[in-house]
Amino acid sequence: MWLTKDEATYPHYVETLDSLQRPLKDLRLSVIDKCNFRCPYCMPKDVFTKDYPFLKHSQLMSFDEMLKLARGFVALGAEKIRITGGEPLLRKNIEHLIESLARLTTQSGKRVSISMTTNGTLLASKAQALKDAGLERVTVSLDSLDNDIFMKMNDVGVPVSVVLKGIEAAQRVGLSPVKVNTVVQKGMNDSQIMPIVNHFRHSGVTVRFIEYMDVGGANYWSDSGVMTSDLVRARIEQEHRLVAVAQQRASDTAHCYRYVDGAGEVGFISSVSEPFCGDCTRARVSADGKLFMCLFATESLDLRPWLGEDAAPEVLAETIRSAWRKRGDHYSELRDERYKDPAKKVYPTVRMSLVGG
Ligand SMILES: C[S@@+](CC[C@H](N)C(=O)[O-])C[C@H]1O[C@@H](n2cnc3c(N)ncnc32)[C@H](O)[C@@H]1O
Ligand code: SF4
Repeated sequence: MWLTKDEATYPHYVETLDSLQRPLKDLRLSVIDKCNFRCPYCMPKDVFTKDYPFLKHSQLMSFDEMLKLARGFVALGAEKIRITGGEPLLRKNIEHLIESLARLTTQSGKRVSISMTTNGTLLASKAQALKDAGLERVTVSLDSLDNDIFMKMNDVGVPVSVVLKGIEAAQRVGLSPVKVNTVVQKGMNDSQIMPIVNHFRHSGVTVRFIEYMDVGGANYWSDSGVMTSDLVRARIEQEHRLVAVAQQRASDTAHCYRYVDGAGEVGFISSVSEPFCGDCTRARVSADGKLFMCLFATESLDLRPWLGEDAAPEVLAETIRSAWRKRGDHYSELRDERYKDPAKKVYPTVRMSLVGG
């Protein structure tokens, strides 16, 4: 493993700001581009067939490379690392990577927070090992409690009970917080908003409703399928009184509300109706080591050449730093402009399953 004494001599960088004055605070690290689901909004079955050119094993970064990469980001100011995919729990021995990442500390000496976004299918069997390895928090994607709708949305026939067991296991072993992400697609699962809300009230699990986005895999996206956060919140408020909670960090993607009756919190991620590019502090790295500055970016920087055993960590950090300083992406804020003028469309964007959510 790459953790050596030279950690102490790693250069101390001042805050790294991009061209829009946004600091680098979060790393989304994709560990695999494969998935056992075929959610039509992300990996539609007719595109992601068995002949699809998924990354080969040899193209995936090793755990040593990922650790080296993570240390570079932490040296530049990253405080949180979210492991994603594809489906991250399909990556063999993922707990070994987590164990190394969980030892990283920020420059102020705090532990780097390690979290994961998963579809939850393998969580029941993996939760304890993940917790023991140092995973702090987990977000589970769950779009429906109705089994028929759930199976239609994963498109591989996995019943919702499997994911619910995963969520229960995550809570039981003490992963905290456990959150649920629900992408709302009008006409598909908007009937599930209240069942999901009521299932998780008083459970300690915070549900975050996400607006359906026009990301890379979502070939069939149209704004008629988007149910805005305002509408979702209005529906919840017909049954439960909510009050807004102050955001902990400007870069938090969700706007949170608390139930006035003390049943917990619910969040809204409004990437379409209210883009939050101005506060985005996230860098994304795909499982093959490509740095993407935005979920909607079409270009990337290959970091693999700086991840080898002989590569100096300072050079990796300088490479990331110089890329971040040039960063000016704010694609979500430009969405309306792009749709008004089709000539400005930049699709296809990168696949969500490659860079993670
Ligand atoms: C790409 S997945 C990767 C992690 C894991 N497979 C999962 O589903 O949680 C990360 C998140 O992206 C969300 N997502 C994927 N496609 C989306 C889209 N078109 N619009 C909004 N969210 C999307 C998923 O619902 C999920 O919560
Ligand atoms: S959203 Fe997650 S679970 Fe669904 S297809 Fe994409 S990567 Fe897989």
